Amino acid sequence: MLAEILEILPIGPGATVVDGTLGLGGHSIELLARLAGSGRFMGMDWDSAMLEQAGTRIGSPVGVEIELVHSDYRNLPEEMGKRDWQADGILLDLGLNSAQIDDSERGIAFKEAGPLDMRMDRSSGEPASSMLNRMSLDQIEQILWDLGDERWARAIARKVVERRKSTPLRTTQDLVDCVLAAVPVKARDKRIHPATRTFQAVRIAVNKELEGLEEAIAEIGRTLKPGGVLAVLSYHSGEDRATKRAMRELSEEGFEELFRKPETPTAEEIARNPRSRSAKLRAVRRKKIMTS
Ligand SMILES: C[S@@+](CC[C@H](N)C(=O)[O-])C[C@H]1O[C@@H](n2cnc3c(N)ncnc32)[C@H](O)[C@@H]1O
Repeated sequence: MLAEILEILPIGPGATVVDGTLGLGGHSIELLARLAGSGRFMGMDWDSAMLEQAGTRIGSPVGVEIELVHSDYRNLPEEMGKRDWQADGILLDLGLNSAQIDDSERGIAFKEAGPLDMRMDRSSGEPASSMLNRMSLDQIEQILWDLGDERWARAIARKVVERRKSTPLRTTQDLVDCVLAAVPVKARDKRIHPATRTFQAVRIAVNKELEGLEEAIAEIGRTLKPGGVLAVLSYHSGEDRATKRAMRELSEEGFEELFRKPETPTAEEIARNPRSRSAKLRAVRRKKIMTS
């Protein structure tokens, strides 16, 4: 949804732009082009591999101050405060990108066996294997239910607990085996792999992706200059709910929501990039003159 994002972010020469989820820098390269050689740019990512690759792609455009920050975007207000910056445009393109999903060493996908890790920042936190080998049956069930909308949450959690009694979970295949043993063949949805929801839920839990999200998005909105815009692209109902609530909170403070309902990708975009099918774009503008 790049075209919509470029249309709503008020970015031109001299602007201050922040990409809180740099990824491989695809969006940022376009945003930087709008600066046309003058302005400030901050790119953040909690995955150092992404930050490094994006940094190489972005380079050092003449006349633009570039700050690349290895951190959770929930720290964005603090990073802005340290530099005394206010933004004209902020983008959060939540979730993860294809390069991270396809890297079997991360254990996020399950097509190829890899270590059951799933941490986006491998310098801290607890890998998925250790979390699943430690949690109670009820805790695992709750994660699968709440974060993956998995109907077979209880049965899968039982298989995990049963299995780890003899052999602790170690690889993505170990978790796939638990799911396949728990979900009856007849009950499987033909459109997605039976383990998709489980892997999504465990990844969100491992990275605490929804914790404090609503408060963080509202705080990030408050770092905008008058007239500045925050755009958030989300791919999961929990992320969209937090974004919606944060933007409602900001609108009560006098910010303006740009869309009444979230924008979604066109059929053409989904055909080109199937992973965009669940994308939702919401945006909020800090009014030039605040009414409250
Ligand atoms: C969908 S990708 C962004 C793709 C990017 N817009 C591009 O054009 O390449 C999401 C990125 O956000 C990062 N990310 C997700 N949650 C994050 C968080 N809480 N803090 C910092 N980075 C995060 C991921 O590591 C990933 O690189």
